[in-house]
Amino acid sequence: MNIQSLRCANVIKLDRPDGWNQSMAKPDTNEDDRSHWDRFYKKYEPPHIPSQFAVFTCAEFTGASFLIDIGCGNGRDLIFFSSKFEKVVGVDESEKAIDILVKSGKLADQDCCINAPINSPTLAASLKEKLGDMPENSFGVIYARFFLHAIRDADELAFWELCKTIANWRDVSIAVEFRSAKDRSLPKMTPDHFRRYIAPADFIASAAFNGFAVIYYVEGFGFAKYGSDDAHVARILLQRSAWKP
Ligand SMILES: C[S@@+](CC[C@H](N)C(=O)[O-])C[C@H]1O[C@@H](n2cnc3c(N)ncnc32)[C@H](O)[C@@H]1O
Repeated sequence: MNIQSLRCANVIKLDRPDGWNQSMAKPDTNEDDRSHWDRFYKKYEPPHIPSQFAVFTCAEFTGASFLIDIGCGNGRDLIFFSSKFEKVVGVDESEKAIDILVKSGKLADQDCCINAPINSPTLAASLKEKLGDMPENSFGVIYARFFLHAIRDADELAFWELCKTIANWRDVSIAVEFRSAKDRSLPKMTPDHFRRYIAPADFIASAAFNGFAVIYYVEGFGFAKYGSDDAHVARILLQRSAWKP
């Protein structure tokens, strides 16, 4: 098992799967995504106020007692969620982002961060441990904002596997927001990095294939405005469908 201690003893750090190498994860670029995000968080300070989508998600899932933020970055949303849900867990592969988040001192539970890539073979076990004290009949949300378009196709498969695994332990819904295919040619304020613009219909088909049904779907401008950047995004809420893969 590839669990190591970070400088901050409270953060679980999980490595890439054995045998993983850059070329497997990055078929269409030589850039190392993880070092991109570490550099990004070293150089830029993303907003510390919660995103519009975080506020929307809280209002939609008032009955949820836990939330898992996948690709939580500097924790702008996780910190907000931590005062709204009984339990929150943040996952991000950028060591720098998690470091900033933990050192911010803004999380009541300093033990709620996992520094891991989505395809870490031990991520599910770590999450299970973190959710261990939630009652078996508790309901929660798997949240991913601006994460799905930042990962490779193979990592989206890992995302679905993780969602299905968590859905086997507890009742969960999924809340995602990502840059849509219509955003491809639009100007961006944030620095260039790997972006996989997603056709919402493709994502919804993948959700159905993995046993999740749409309960809300909208796409357009104005949902994630940031300075001059008004991304064309899709916002999708999913729940477990009757059909289980
Ligand atoms: C565009 S940022 C979004 C951050 C935050 N959710 C927000 O909305 O401000 C994408 C985040 O996903 C993380 N990330 C990218 N690829 C990842 C992977 N394969 N596994 C886990 N985290 C990843 C990055 O480190 C980064 O923090």
